Amino acid sequence: MSTPAPEKIEKFRQQLKKDWTRDETVAAWRRWHGEIAAFTRGVTDALLKEAQLRSGLEVLDLASGVGDPALSIAPAVAPSGRVVATDLGPGMFSLAAELARNQGLKNIEFREAAADSVPFPDGSFDLVTCRFGAMFFPDLQKALRECRRVLRPAGRLCFAVWGRREQPFISTTHGVLAKYVDVPKPDPEAPDVFRFAERGRMTSELETAGFQDVKENLLTIPARWNGSLELYWQEFSEVSVAARPLLARLTPEKLASLKAEVLDGLQEFVQDGHLVLPLEVVLGSAIRP
Ligand SMILES: C[S@@+](CC[C@H](N)C(=O)[O-])C[C@H]1O[C@@H](n2cnc3c(N)ncnc32)[C@H](O)[C@@H]1O
Repeated sequence: MSTPAPEKIEKFRQQLKKDWTRDETVAAWRRWHGEIAAFTRGVTDALLKEAQLRSGLEVLDLASGVGDPALSIAPAVAPSGRVVATDLGPGMFSLAAELARNQGLKNIEFREAAADSVPFPDGSFDLVTCRFGAMFFPDLQKALRECRRVLRPAGRLCFAVWGRREQPFISTTHGVLAKYVDVPKPDPEAPDVFRFAERGRMTSELETAGFQDVKENLLTIPARWNGSLELYWQEFSEVSVAARPLLARLTPEKLASLKAEVLDGLQEFVQDGHLVLPLEVVLGSAIRP
């Protein structure tokens, strides 16, 4: 739980910004956002329930990407409440802003902000949410202290993050890819997608940052893919920031064998003609004293 040196944090922050704002990432999320939102809807629903939404709440959503869960929160806190959706760069949330306009949402705004230094005064929100973002915060404690600072007393924090690496969502794609290509060993201090996999980690991080009434629940949420397995592979190969550069290293023959092996492995999770993967997710919530 130690914090990396400031120059390392800066390096990780720059790398994340590069990965998440580059054209291929933005284009892939633009292309697949509808499918991703539908596939992971159960996670959004669990987060929204935990958040105890009601009209009038002022909400900060961190790492909003293309708008999950910010776009679902806005109507639930309307008409007097509002949502501020934030992310590292405008690439991702330019689509969220378009979707908000199309849906006629008037109580949502978009701001560029890294989670560990948000440009808002103390005590300006009732709720801070984040879905699949907190794993990436290079200085997690600083980000959590920022959440505490911008929350009003008795304000709530709700985060959904990935559980263990050993789950079908990972083993069926990244797990197979690792057999075809040497996956570079990450810096042990770098942000890790599975940083909250260990039971109790979410709780200890939130308590260290000064939160109270901390709850940590491990959930298994079915995710149903509405298209073909072929489309699922295509989405994975375009959207995954981690996999994309590794896939680019494979010869066309190796890529074809990898794809065949992935599609074959996914068959185990087909129910009534649809892919359904059990997503293991950690849901953390806490109150600012
Ligand atoms: C997997 S996406 C999740 C997006 C969205 N919340 C969702 O659930 O679909 C991760 C997001 O975290 C953002 N992110 C990464 N590091 C961040 C940081 N330090 N501060 C704020 N956002 C960050 C990325 O730009 C990206 O949009």
